[in-house]
This record gives sequence, C-alpha cells and structure tokens, in this order.
Amino acid sequence: MEQALIRESTGRQSPTLVSRRVSRDNRQTVGDPFVADPRMTCRNVNVYYGDKRAIKNVSLDVGRNEVIAMIGPSGCGKSTFIRCLNRMNDTIEGCRVTGEITLDGQNIYDSGLDVVALRAQVGMVFQKPNPFPKSIYENIAYGPRIHGLVDSKAALDELVENSLKKAGLWDEVKDRLHEPGTGLSGGQQQRLCIARAIAVSPEVILMDEPCSALDPMATAIIEDLIDELRQHYSIVIVTHSMQQASRVSQRTAFFHLGDLIEVGATSQVFTNPLHELTEDYITGRFG
Ligand SMILES: Nc1ncnc2c1ncn2[C@@H]1O[C@H](COP(=O)(O)OP(=O)(O)O)[C@@H](O)[C@H]1O
Ligand SMILES: [Mg+2]
Repeated sequence: MEQALIRESTGRQSPTLVSRRVSRDNRQTVGDPFVADPRMTCRNVNVYYGDKRAIKNVSLDVGRNEVIAMIGPSGCGKSTFIRCLNRMNDTIEGCRVTGEITLDGQNIYDSGLDVVALRAQVGMVFQKPNPFPKSIYENIAYGPRIHGLVDSKAALDELVENSLKKAGLWDEVKDRLHEPGTGLSGGQQQRLCIARAIAVSPEVILMDEPCSALDPMATAIIEDLIDELRQHYSIVIVTHSMQQASRVSQRTAFFHLGDLIEVGATSQVFTNPLHELTEDYITGRFG
C-alpha cells in the first residue's frame, strides 16, 4: 500500500519525496473518506454537547453493500458520530449537530423530514441487546405494523419469518414465537434486535459495539451474520476489537479526540496506516 508522501527539505539538497507517516499533530483526515456511489454522505459534521465539541468537522461517506468500522480510543466520538446518522442525537438534551448528512441524496436534517421513518431506514443495534418486553413474534411485528408495511396477518407472519431468517434466528425460535424475547440467550437477543431492525426494510444498519456483551461463540455468529447482511444493507459498526474490524469490515475509520484521523481500506489501515496516531492505536500504544 501507498504511504503518505511528504515533501521534505533535506539540508542544502533540493526537496525530495520521503515516504513516512503523517505526524501526530496533524489533525486533518488522511486517506480517502469518499466513495464513488455513496448511500450516505457526511460533510463538515460537528457535534456539540453544550459548549463541548465532540465531533470536529468530519466528512465521510458510507458506501452501498459495505461494512465500515469505526475505531478509536474510548471517548473519541464513535457513538456520537453514528448517532448523527439517524438523528438519535436529537433525543439528547443539549446536543447540537451542524453540517450536512444525506441519505440517498436527501438531507436527513431537513426540517420537514419524518424522523420516525428515517430511523426505520437507518436502523440501530445497541451494545446491550434490548428486546421489547414482548413475545419474539411481537418484537418483530411491532415496527412493520406501526409503519403500515403490511395489510394482512398472513403478510405479517411472512415478514416476521423472513426477518428472523435473515437474522439467522428462525430455526432456533420458530417453535416458540410467542414466548418472551427476553427469555433468549444474549446472542439470540442480539439477533432478535437485528431481525427487528431488518423487519422495517432499512438501507443502513448502525451497530454500536454489538458484540461487546456477548461470548466468543455468539460473537462469531453475529460476525458471520454481518457479512451476509452486507449483500442487502450498508452497515456501520463501532467496535473496540481490531480483530473484529479486520474480520467484518471493508473500510475503517479511525477517530481520535473528535477528529476523523484516517479512513481507508481495512487491510491498509491495519497493516500500513498513513497516520502516526492510527499506528499508535493499532499497535496498542493507547486506547
Ligand atoms: N450525553 C452526553 N452529554 C455530554 N457529553 C457527552 C455525552 N455523550 C458523550 N459525551 C462526550 O462526548 C465525547 C465522545 O463520546 P462518545 O461518542 O460516547 O465516545 P466513544 O463512543 O468513542 O467512546 C466524550 O468526551 C463524552 O464524554
Ligand atoms: Mg461509544
């Protein structure tokens, strides 16, 4: 992979191109944050909690049929950033977002936009599985019903079945659809939450550390699932596990103190980072 080329003056000789990493004090994004045919675009996004700026002028695209991983030390703004993508920050008192974010070319912060519909198009899966205190069936059926996506019981049954199949959970729950979702194991509950997001036909699924409460077996199942889901959806995943980012994502974005420091193909970011801060992080020097 190509390294950052920085023009350096070497004494009395003429300037030469030296291959080395971008230095720690450079806060501009390096690498390529843009894709040819984006599903979502973010331009100059800032997020403030009161006076504190938690996201600083971030521009980044989310491509189609890709998994993009958000990595970086705790508190660098990963959760804050992904919450911008479906306006979940709107629900946080004192939180303000500036800049432009589009989904399929439409600004999602337009005043007339239906936020409930947006959150179906850009679904979210959280760190701790959070099924509704309802049956497995109702966990899936609730969204399509309130969004008016089906007009008969048979169509709803079919949608529930297909959503559970896509989330790789159907075989494990088909004989107990009317038992509480909260009775499932942690990994099954997380797949139930993924099925619930899928049921309302999203384009993008945001996942904020979806495996950090799961054991290694359940984690492996979810990682395989994420790879399959990429055929139909764009997935933005926050993860603390660099192994996980390497296994599931095609692109990786590295954040540090609210700045988007580096974006690139996952293989490049992990094997040949362009920025010293990225290198510090992936080699375990902090975070
Ligand atoms: N609801 C909130 N109110 C005030 N500050 C917040 C809130 N949520 C996050 N922050 C601050 O914003 C920064 C980024 O946090 P966060 O997005 O949670 O980081 P990460 O997900 O990378 O750990 C941190 O300094 C954090 O303390
Ligand atoms: Mg977080």
